[in-house]
Amino acid sequence: MTAIESIFKEEFGAEPEAIFSAAGRVNLIGEHIDYCGGRVLPAALSLKCRVAVRKNGTSILRIAATTIDARAEIDLTNTGAYQNLPWGNYQAGVADEMKRAGYNLVGCDILYDCTVPFGSGLSSSAAIEVATAYALAKMGGNKIDKVELAVISQRAENNYCGVNCGIMDQFASANGKKDHAILIDCATLEYEHIPLNLGDFVLVLANCNKPHNLRESKYNERRDEVEVALKILKTKISSDNLSQISSDTVERYKDLLGETIYRRAKHVTTECERVAKSVEALKNNDLAGFGRLMYESHDSLKYDYEVTGRELDTLVEAARLQKGCIGSRMTGAGFGGCTVSLVKKICVNEFIENVGQRYRSVIGYDASFYVADIADGIVG
Ligand code: GLA
Repeated sequence: MTAIESIFKEEFGAEPEAIFSAAGRVNLIGEHIDYCGGRVLPAALSLKCRVAVRKNGTSILRIAATTIDARAEIDLTNTGAYQNLPWGNYQAGVADEMKRAGYNLVGCDILYDCTVPFGSGLSSSAAIEVATAYALAKMGGNKIDKVELAVISQRAENNYCGVNCGIMDQFASANGKKDHAILIDCATLEYEHIPLNLGDFVLVLANCNKPHNLRESKYNERRDEVEVALKILKTKISSDNLSQISSDTVERYKDLLGETIYRRAKHVTTECERVAKSVEALKNNDLAGFGRLMYESHDSLKYDYEVTGRELDTLVEAARLQKGCIGSRMTGAGFGGCTVSLVKKICVNEFIENVGQRYRSVIGYDASFYVADIADGIVG
């Protein structure tokens, strides 16, 4: 019996029927544009949320976890009642959305074994949602496609958990592919897997370990600001999506937008252009070109979108100085969480040592580092 199976048996008194896993994600480029209908380029990680599951013959979901001492029970006949659970609200939200969408749900025991670090900006919550949606669909005998898995999971986060996120994290968690990035058109949900031929390079993730951050409040504030930008621009041009507008157009209406809204719109439109260039660069094996776009993306998130902060900036500034590092940027929502850097394999140890030391001396505590292993999304 594997470790997860024996913990499951201890917790629930029987062996699981199935084990599924959904992935955490790193976004390579295309930050804060998914909710503007832009194209983004994340990849699924081998850091996972695994779930072991069995039907329990009741109408209750009993949930527990291996890495934290948390348990909850969710009555499937009353899924609306769990919005304030300290742990388990993502699962309840998914069940609630699935019921609304007409899926057949049955009571289950589910054990969560999550190796995506919580609060790291690597989408542990999306991995929990997608794994839950998949497990519930399978146990209830439903068919569900992987795009729908992402849509249901995002809706749970928006409607039930009150986080107004875009579709990127859930989509990558479900649809990622080993050794590929996934180019997602967030307006149409069409996608394409792009091979990641990194040759002598690897992606190094650095978690800044910032204890508290403003992610949710500032995230919603940015969403409001880009809506204002679109509303103003629509008085001059016809478009339903900020991501369809060029950065030249934004320049043209700079005065009309006003200083702050102009900078937010500038980030979104230039970031969309950087994604298009990044896809070209990766298809042409131009890693140096892609690395430059990563640095530009970080600067835009720092100066124009203002979602980085001292911790992430310190990591990227230190990375820029390292031998063998050709690109680095914050990844995810920002204000805390992780950076991703493109580093020559033979320089990785020195990179981690030097960036780690610099970070500790400026910030006062340690960052954590992982070499990213790009893996499949939902498995099982
Ligand atoms: C969070 C959200 C995503 C996306 C990123 C920023 O991870 O969940 O939808 O908006 O921030 O790119």
